[in-house]
Amino acid sequence: MEKISPLSKPKPVILTCAQPTGNLTLGNYLGALRNWSKMLEEYECYFGIVDLHAITVPQKPPVLRQNVYSCIAQYIACGLDPKRCHQFVQSHVIGHTELAWILTCMTPIGELQRMTQFKDKAAKLGFKVSNEPESQGIKFTHDGVRAQASINAGLLCYPVLMAADILLYNADLVPVGEDQRQHLELCRDLAGRFNQKYSETFTIPEPYVPSTGARIMSLADPLRKMSKSDDNEKATIFVLDEPDQITKKIGSSVTDSGTEIKVSQDKPGVSNLLSIHSSLSGIDFPSLEDHFLGKGYGELKSEVSELLVETLRTVRESYYELINDKTFLDSVLKEGAQAAQKRAFKILNKVQRKIGLPDRPR
Ligand code: AMP
Ligand code: TRP
Repeated sequence: MEKISPLSKPKPVILTCAQPTGNLTLGNYLGALRNWSKMLEEYECYFGIVDLHAITVPQKPPVLRQNVYSCIAQYIACGLDPKRCHQFVQSHVIGHTELAWILTCMTPIGELQRMTQFKDKAAKLGFKVSNEPESQGIKFTHDGVRAQASINAGLLCYPVLMAADILLYNADLVPVGEDQRQHLELCRDLAGRFNQKYSETFTIPEPYVPSTGARIMSLADPLRKMSKSDDNEKATIFVLDEPDQITKKIGSSVTDSGTEIKVSQDKPGVSNLLSIHSSLSGIDFPSLEDHFLGKGYGELKSEVSELLVETLRTVRESYYELINDKTFLDSVLKEGAQAAQKRAFKILNKVQRKIGLPDRPR
C-alpha cells in the first residue's frame, strides 16, 4: 500500500464486510465487487470477512474455515488487488467483539427486536417476535403458543457487532446492499449517541451507493433481485459457474411475450438480459437496441452467454489458482490483519479510555 507522506491528505476510508457463506453471484460482481475494485486508488479500503457474524447460525467448523479461504480467493479473483487494499478476517482483529460489547451496553433491546432482518430470521426459525408493550422483554410465540426462547442472543445482537465492525475503523463510507440499510442506520445512531455522551469519537459513516452498476435480476423471475440464496438453481449465475452452466442458465432464462428486444417495464426479462449485456460489453442501451433490431431472443441470449463466459473465465481461472495457494492467501490475510489491527487498536483504546476503563498496563 502506498505510503502516506505527512503532507498528503489521508484518503477517506471505505469499509465493507461479507459473511463467508455461499459463492458470489453475478449480481455481487456487477453490483459490488467490480465497482469496489475501481475505488482502490481513491480510498483506503478495508474488506472484512465476518466469520463471527456467520456463527450466529449453525456452521460446520471445517466448512466455515474453508469458506473463509474461498471467500478471499473470490474477492481477489474478482479484482480486489491485495496490494492496494486490506483484506482481513474479523476474528483475527482484536477489537470487534470488545467494541461490540461496549455498544451492546448502549443499545436498547427494543431497537434490536425491531430490526427487519432479526424478525425475518426469527420467523424462518419458526418464531414470531412480539413487541407488545405488556410483554416482558422478548416474547416468542409459535403457532400462537408461548414458547421458550431458543433463538441465540447473537442473532439479536448481530447489528451491534456490525456497528462495531464499522466504527472500529472510523469508516467514512460503507457500501451495503438495500437489506443492510437499517443496520447501518443503527450504527449511525449508536455513533451519534456515543459522541454526544462522551465527546466526538466516531465518524458517522455514510452508505456508499455506486453511481454505476445495474441491479441484476433473477433469471427465473426477473421481477426479483438475483440472489445467492435463491432455491431455484437456474435463477442465479455464480462467478465460478462453468461455461456450460452459464449457457444453460441464460438459455432457460425467462423472457417476455412479443419479439422486440428493448428496455421496457413490460419486458423485465429482456431488459435484464440487455442490462447484463451492457454491463459486460460497455455498450449503451440505445446502441444495443439498434444492434438487435430484427433479431430474435435466441441471438440476444447467445451474445449474453458469450460475454459472460468470457468475463467469468478469467475470474474462475484466477480463483482456482488462488485457492490452491494457501500460503499466498495466508500472507494476504496476515497483511490485512496487521493493518486492520493497527487502526483498530487506536480507536479501541480511545473508546475504552473515554468510558472510564483503566489503561492497559504497558
Ligand atoms: P449481498 O450478497 O446481498 O450481501 O450483497 C452484497 C453486495 O452485492 C451489495 O453491495 C449489493 O448491492 C450487491 N448485490 C447483491 N445482489 C445484487 C444484484 N442482484 N444486483 C446488483 N447488486 C447486487
Ligand atoms: N451484515 C452484513 C451482510 O450480511 C455483513 C456485515 C457485517 C457488514 N459487518 C459489516 C457489511 C460491516 C458492511 C459493514 O451483508
